[in-house]
Amino acid sequence: MDVIRSVDTMHALALGWRARGKKVGFVPTMGYLHRGHTTLIELMRQRCEILVVSIYVNPLQFAPTEDLSRYPRDPEGDARKCQAAGCDVLFMPDNLYPPDFRTTVDVSGLTSRWEGAARPTHFQGVATVVCRLFGLVQPTVAMFGEKDFQQFTVLKSMARDLAMGIEIVPGPLVRDHDGLALSSRNVYLSADERARALTLHRALYAIRDHASPDAEVRKAAGRSILQCDGLDYLEIVDPETLEAAPVIDRPLRAIATARYGRTRLLDNVAVLPA
Ligand code: PAF
Repeated sequence: MDVIRSVDTMHALALGWRARGKKVGFVPTMGYLHRGHTTLIELMRQRCEILVVSIYVNPLQFAPTEDLSRYPRDPEGDARKCQAAGCDVLFMPDNLYPPDFRTTVDVSGLTSRWEGAARPTHFQGVATVVCRLFGLVQPTVAMFGEKDFQQFTVLKSMARDLAMGIEIVPGPLVRDHDGLALSSRNVYLSADERARALTLHRALYAIRDHASPDAEVRKAAGRSILQCDGLDYLEIVDPETLEAAPVIDRPLRAIATARYGRTRLLDNVAVLPA
């Protein structure tokens, strides 16, 4: 596995692959890799000739009040995990943006609600960094985990709207032995917060397993389990438009975000008509 830190070296290499018609797979990450990430890397390994993983903690997607400086980092451990998962090139730039960088990418509508309402500048930062990474890595196919379901929907829409010619593939949400969705931010949880956080997926499972076609009835079943003061939203949405759906008459997504101590956790499950 090659480790590349220079933006110019990465871009030159990628243009060479493109000229030779290589199928390049790409898994962008912010590092501190867990089994959720390595699952994506292993799955992408099977779909491409050259596999690139990026690690870059993107300042643009953090608000000034958020956890950029304390975001967990483990570059050496990450490199070992990437190598074991079959990565060919690990792109770990110290700085991704030129000093006079002035472009932003906005995916309107999809980004105004749910995570976007709580974190108004977040998706602009995500779309902008992913757009720049796509330009540098020139992938044929890229994978984003469904754990961040809204992010996946936003990036799929961006790639389609801008005719990027990149296939955007969902990667599975991976859970810990007790059901907690794996996230780099789980490391912030105290033992007590982690125990309380189990109600998040249990509430979503209750919504998934309820037989009613009425979304309000299913959400009430979820809320009765989620005894969490810091519940931000719990909704059943259309997976393409992310609009709240009143009736479970097609495959939908139940999405939820709650705060445990200072840590905001996201989770979601597929919801089908009974
Ligand atoms: O999901 C993440 O880790 C980040 O939002 C991403 C897509 C790598 C962009 O920084």
